[in-house]
Amino acid sequence: MVYKIGVMPGDGVGPEVVSWGKSVLEATSRLGGIELEFVDAPVGGTTFLETGKVLPQESLQALNGCNAILKGPMGRPDIEAGIVERDGILALRQHFEQYVNLRPVKLFRGLESASPLKDSLLKHGVDFIIVRENSEGLYSRMGGLTAQSATDINLFTERGVRRILEFAFQLAAKRDKHLISVDKANVLSASLFWRRKFEAMAQNHPEIKTSSQLVDSFCLLVLQDPSPKKWDVLVTDNMFGDIIADEAAAIVGSLGMSPSANLNPGGISMYEPVHGSAPDIAGKGIVNPLATILSCALLMRHSLQRDDLGDKIENAVQKALDEGLRTTDIYVEDEGFTKVTTEELGAAVLKHLN
Ligand code: IPM
Ligand code: MG
Repeated sequence: MVYKIGVMPGDGVGPEVVSWGKSVLEATSRLGGIELEFVDAPVGGTTFLETGKVLPQESLQALNGCNAILKGPMGRPDIEAGIVERDGILALRQHFEQYVNLRPVKLFRGLESASPLKDSLLKHGVDFIIVRENSEGLYSRMGGLTAQSATDINLFTERGVRRILEFAFQLAAKRDKHLISVDKANVLSASLFWRRKFEAMAQNHPEIKTSSQLVDSFCLLVLQDPSPKKWDVLVTDNMFGDIIADEAAAIVGSLGMSPSANLNPGGISMYEPVHGSAPDIAGKGIVNPLATILSCALLMRHSLQRDDLGDKIENAVQKALDEGLRTTDIYVEDEGFTKVTTEELGAAVLKHLN
């Protein structure tokens, strides 16, 4: 069987990191005896300037026939903020009903000094996973903007909340059986709705240890103790998930280390780094390719059901870091590290894969 992988290079540093993602996918597929075919699907700000459309019909059609999608970050400083985000990223997530946004937060060995937290807080490691609702909430794209006022509808539906919670309970059952729901139920009715559903579902899963945490308090507690004994699986809404994923990325050293998966468990899923298009460093050859490479590991696990190949990619990343290779975002002085380019770090991962 040939797996078709849709590829969107995106904007800014996108093409640089996505090309390393493709090389890693190719090398991994050879190891695993599977065949991949890459299907180009231009989407994003550059596509908008060239064609007048952020997400052209032809790209969408090409993606519709794929088994999975690798997506680069999108957005350009010369296009008004919001256009590419709404018509590109959010439109894709909604079109493919990728209602789960999975964001693993893992501290790789040797990155302790790149974290702003002191070593004593990191001695047990960091290894939790954020299950972010990805189709509604404040990202419903409902609301309005006039000169006098603006609204964004925080839409939570029975179906939307149920399916994300079910996914989180299933994931927790496969991990440490510890699930925390992050909400703001003391203020928002949408959160209260969510919390009630969560608590009702918890009754049916006595094997899972559950609790609810207010989002502001979560942001504080995770900095005071990010260890695996406190955090295993977190489930939260779209907006809170967006925010806490960036905080979590800082804890593990850099946004450049943070992969993500937009999952439709019965359909086409899309894999992308959590970081943005970083126009300030685009084309300089210094962007960290690991967030995208680690997103490819998620692709192997979740779209191709090849955990073994996901492991291989993550192990190769660890080995490249063990060599002391660091792009600028994770480089720390006086630690004996070698500051390297995108190319050097990407090539090291490939070497360890083969
Ligand atoms: C992310 C990003 C996106 C989001 C933006 C670019 C629309 O911040 O994937 O975290 O808010 O989801
Ligand atoms: Mg974000």
